[in-house]
Amino acid sequence: MRLVILDDYELASEWAAKYIRNRIIQFSPSADRFFTLGLPTGSTPYGCYQKLIEFHRSGDLSFKYVKTFNMDEYVGLPRAHPESYHSYMWNNFFKHIDIDPANAHILDGNAKDLEAECQAYEEKISEAGGIQLFVGGIGPDGHIAFNEPGSSLVSRTRVKTLAKDTIVANARFFGNDLSKVPTMALTVGVGTVMDAKEVLILITGAHKAFALNKAIEEGVNHMWTVSAFQQHPRTIFVCDEDATLELRVKTVKYFKGLMHVHNKLVDPVLSMKIQ
Ligand code: GLP
Repeated sequence: MRLVILDDYELASEWAAKYIRNRIIQFSPSADRFFTLGLPTGSTPYGCYQKLIEFHRSGDLSFKYVKTFNMDEYVGLPRAHPESYHSYMWNNFFKHIDIDPANAHILDGNAKDLEAECQAYEEKISEAGGIQLFVGGIGPDGHIAFNEPGSSLVSRTRVKTLAKDTIVANARFFGNDLSKVPTMALTVGVGTVMDAKEVLILITGAHKAFALNKAIEEGVNHMWTVSAFQQHPRTIFVCDEDATLELRVKTVKYFKGLMHVHNKLVDPVLSMKIQ
């Protein structure tokens, strides 16, 4: 496990975006070899998306041969609703890059048969060759995607009822009106994310500090589903200083001492040559 600690949200976002950029470029995607990227929504990844858009605009990064799979989507919220994850992804990322819309996959929370939709999503991921890099965020209760406390750590894509904490945390996007927050969602499972070759989890802000402590300093625990990634061979937690407030000084010092190694991972690499 790597823990990358940056001074603030901006720097954490930039580090994550550079890491994603480098992974895509190093993969040398082409028409018969797409890079598959798992993606989150939320306020945390917003800065990372902004940076990726910048890299695209400056000609350093193309998404022409990238397939994306989003982590989750609310059930029953119209796709065009400003708070649907479809709207979030199109407005904050996809419409600003050169991805083929057919390659940007998001679960359909309005599908007639939600279970069939989840099953089909898993199949699409498999058909795409699995996920190379799954980028995720977490809730303050340590949930990844919508894998709420108590979720099976080998779970697959499925329908979930949201925990009260999540509904309260997300009410800010719905005018702080709890009754307007959807109560169900479709989400990839912990097992779905575990199958990715690599996982990068963004954790920023003091309100996530306790979750980061549970994620990395205690054992694997299904009440803090992000802790499952302790058992993934290639997980990178990217956080800001505020998120480290509940960690031991010893942990923070150790990982900060490794920053010169971690920073090599985000050195600029050759720009993509895609016509
Ligand atoms: C929701 C999403 C998660 C996301 C979390 C944190 O619960 N299902 O995928 O990581 O919110 O969101 P934020 O980044 O806004 O704190």
